[in-house]
Amino acid sequence: MEVEIYDTKNRLAEEFADFFCNFVKERTEIHVALSGGSTPKIVFDVLAEKYTKKIDWHKIHLYWGDERCVPPDDSESNYKMTKEHLLSKVDLPESNIHRIKGENDPDEEALAYAELLDKNLTRKNKLPQFDLLILGMGDDGHTASIFPHQIALWHSDRYCEVAQHPETGQQRISLSGKLINNAEHVAFLVTGEAKAEKLREIVTKEGPWETYPASLVDPDSGNLIWFLDLGAASKLDPTE
Ligand code: 6PG
Repeated sequence: MEVEIYDTKNRLAEEFADFFCNFVKERTEIHVALSGGSTPKIVFDVLAEKYTKKIDWHKIHLYWGDERCVPPDDSESNYKMTKEHLLSKVDLPESNIHRIKGENDPDEEALAYAELLDKNLTRKNKLPQFDLLILGMGDDGHTASIFPHQIALWHSDRYCEVAQHPETGQQRISLSGKLINNAEHVAFLVTGEAKAEKLREIVTKEGPWETYPASLVDPDSGNLIWFLDLGAASKLDPTE
């Protein structure tokens, strides 16, 4: 587990954008799954501001690790957020954007998206493999849209599951652990003090760390990088 710690979340966004640019440069075509929430927003803003010409966006196919079961123009939509902050500002072909259709019946879309991944992605360990999977972690230790109260969904045999937000009850489509841990590279982007205690428990394997879905992210490839800001890393032992 590689951990990179940056002074601020804006610095983290700048550094991750550079990491992403190099990642794309080294490949002829890449299939990337994005996370939702607020942290990726600042990364997308950096990419849209400084990397429109530095990255060959035609090489990139975009997917989502999770999506809220809402229409694509809903303020809750991860696709809408990505379109506003990135897709509307870079020359990425529409045909390379593979969104989870939050407007569809959740059970049907979970199956349909799994079929799309099966068709589009190369296989490793007999499973579809993302070149890069970007994840966030919630204050409760959730990742993608696998929440602690439904941690069993992480172990599903299916590539995609229908999950539910514990407070709002909002339905979500989420990749299961099977596909998350089959990605060639996983980048965790985690910022803010609110995540510090969960992160400490996950790194030190203390407390109820195994009840946090984020603690189950352990790609077979071994390629896991945690991008943290000082707030999120504030309870980690610097000597470790
Ligand atoms: C979502 C995300 C979710 C997110 C975490 C962290 O759809 O909400 O995929 O898993 O990554 O909740 O969100 P922040 O980056 O806003 O802290």
